[in-house]
Parts: sequence; structure tokens; C-alpha cells
Amino acid sequence: MPQIYSRIIATGSALPERVVTNVDLEKIVDTSDEWIHSRTGIRQRHIAADGETTGDLAFRAAQSALEAAGVKASELDLIVLGTTTPDIIFPSTACLVQHRLGANGCAAFDVNAACSGFVYALGIADKFIRSGQSKKVLVIGAETLTRMVDWSDRQTCVLFGDGAGAVVLEASSEPGIYATCLHADGGFKELLYNPVGVSVGFNDEPNHGVRIHMSGREVFKVAVKTLDSLVGETLEAAGMVESQIDWLIPHQANLRIIEATAKRLNMSMERVIVTVDKHANTSSGSVPLALDYAVRSGKVQRGQNLLLEAFGGGFTWASALLRY
Ligand code: COA
Repeated sequence: MPQIYSRIIATGSALPERVVTNVDLEKIVDTSDEWIHSRTGIRQRHIAADGETTGDLAFRAAQSALEAAGVKASELDLIVLGTTTPDIIFPSTACLVQHRLGANGCAAFDVNAACSGFVYALGIADKFIRSGQSKKVLVIGAETLTRMVDWSDRQTCVLFGDGAGAVVLEASSEPGIYATCLHADGGFKELLYNPVGVSVGFNDEPNHGVRIHMSGREVFKVAVKTLDSLVGETLEAAGMVESQIDWLIPHQANLRIIEATAKRLNMSMERVIVTVDKHANTSSGSVPLALDYAVRSGKVQRGQNLLLEAFGGGFTWASALLRY
């Protein structure tokens, strides 16, 4: 049997219209553009309008990817959507998007791996295609993380934004995704989490206690160390060396974490896609938003090798090495 690969045939993305700059945030918390930019690389973020949901952003990103691919929603046989901010508890946001696209009948489900959601979803979709189960798959990463932000907490509210990205994957005899690596360690729960939910209940804090708790400095340290070993593992799984990677497309949480990963790969920052300045941390939205920006701006060309990686609450961490 010839080897089946999954190939990204097109990308898409969507951002809310409203932009909030660091200077805007200076008016609501004790912070400064200088502090935020020097620590994180962030200058601004997009924030969903009242009533605008993760599903709305996912739907728009999906439409733009399908249009670029020239694929009809009815041709899809799977939709996998990474999110930690679903519109409602169930049905899944993937099912809501499936219905709006008119792709009814194909399998559709959400993956919650916090900020690694899109790369996890890509890894899962790749396995469906490689096994022969699926031929055309829509993979989405979409979030409205600012809905979980406590706007009086300067340690977290400056870091996050909303947005979505999507890719259409197709079965192909040519590579394709060479390797994906997915990992988690639930022992790190206390460093980055949202403590309330249906099973444990909600509390009397503002927004019923729905808010991000984060030990920033510890998260930073573990992220750098973990991504360092993840990129080595991914190269080995793909049978490649650092110099074969044309572009690093990292999770956009913090420019200093991105720079550390680039250094580990001996890559100059010219070969790294950076959108954290414009989007901030959009969790599952971040990697596919950066990928779509890289494709549409003409930076990434067909035939080039891309290393995608992400790290998030759980902790979770994941990567994909692919030929675009
Ligand atoms: N504006 C101004 N000052 C702030 C601030 C803000 N928005 N947030 C925190 N500070 C203050 C702190 O109160 C502290 O003051 P103190 O020294 O008087 O106590 C000081 O700045 C340093 O805080 P610290 O948390 O040690 O800063 P840091 O250099 O570690 O940077 C982060 C904080 C959050 C930017 C950084 O730790 C980080 O990016 N971590 C990773 C987070 C992440 O990526 N999370 C998502 C993973 S998917």
C-alpha cells in the first residue's frame, strides 16, 4: 500500500473588528505599553464584540479556508476544532460550525488542549487521513479567551486576545505532514487553570469565578524547557535536521519564549513568524492565525518545511513538522 500523507491545501483566519492597544489598557489597570511590550512583545489584541462567539470566528475562518481551497463544505468528511472557550457546553462548537457550513453528516468534534488545541486537532486529523478514514478534513483553532479574563488583574488581562484560524487538509501521496508530537502533564494544573465548571460548580466572584489563574514566571520557565525538548523530538520523528526547517510557526504567547525556541533551532528571527505583537495570545487560534498570515503575506511558499509548535494549560504541548 502506498503511504498516505495529509497535506494542507489552504488556510484561513478571522479576527474580531475591535482592537484594544496596550495604551487602551493603561486606562483600566496599572500597567504600561513599555512593561507589556518589553515582557511579552504584545502591542495590541482583537476583542470579540458583545454577542460574537468562538463559533462565529471559527465559521468565518473556516469559510475563508474552504474558499481558498476551492472545497465545498459538503465534501468534508471530518471537522476537528480546538477550543477551550466553546459557545455552549454542548453541542460542540465543531457541530455548530458544521451546521452553519452545511457540512452535515460528517464527523465533528472539539478538542480541549488549551493553547495546544489547534496543533492537537491537526495531529488527530493527520491520523484520520493516514489511516484512510478521511480524505478531506477541516481543522480549526478558535477562541474568545478574553471572556475568561479578569479585567482588573493586570498580570493576566494584558496577555490575551480573540481570533480563529483554519486549514483544509487533504489525503495525498506527497508529503504533507511528516510528524506530529502530542504531550500532556496534568501535574502542572495549578500553574495555569480556570477553576470553575459544570461539575465542580461556580462561585460568587465576578463572572461566577470564570477567570484565568496563572503563575506567569513558572509557566514561562516550563514552557521554554519543554519546547526545547519538543523541537528535538519532532526533528527526530521526522528524520530531519534543524537546517531543513524553512519557517518556525510557534504559539504566540510571548516573544521571549519564541526567541528561546528559535535559538534552540539555530534559526534567525527572520525565519520565525511573529504575530504576537498584533494578536496577543489567542490560545488555539494563535498557530493557525500565524500560519494564515504567513501564507497570505507570501512569506511561506509551497514546498517549504514548517515547524508548528504550541504549549498551554494542562500542561499540554504539541508540534507538527510538515511540507507546505
Ligand atoms: N503591568 C505592570 N506591572 C506588572 C504587570 C503589568 N501588566 N503584571 C505584573 N506586573 C508586575 C508584578 O506585580 C511584579 O511587580 P513586583 O516586582 O513589584 O512584585 C513585576 O511586574 C514582575 O512580575 P513578574 O510576574 O515576575 O514578571 P515577569 O517578568 O515574569 O513577566 C509575564 C510576567 C506574565 C509576562 C511572564 O511571566 C510570562 O509571559 N509568562 C508566561 C505566560 C504565558 O505565556 N502564559 C500562557 C502560556 S500558553
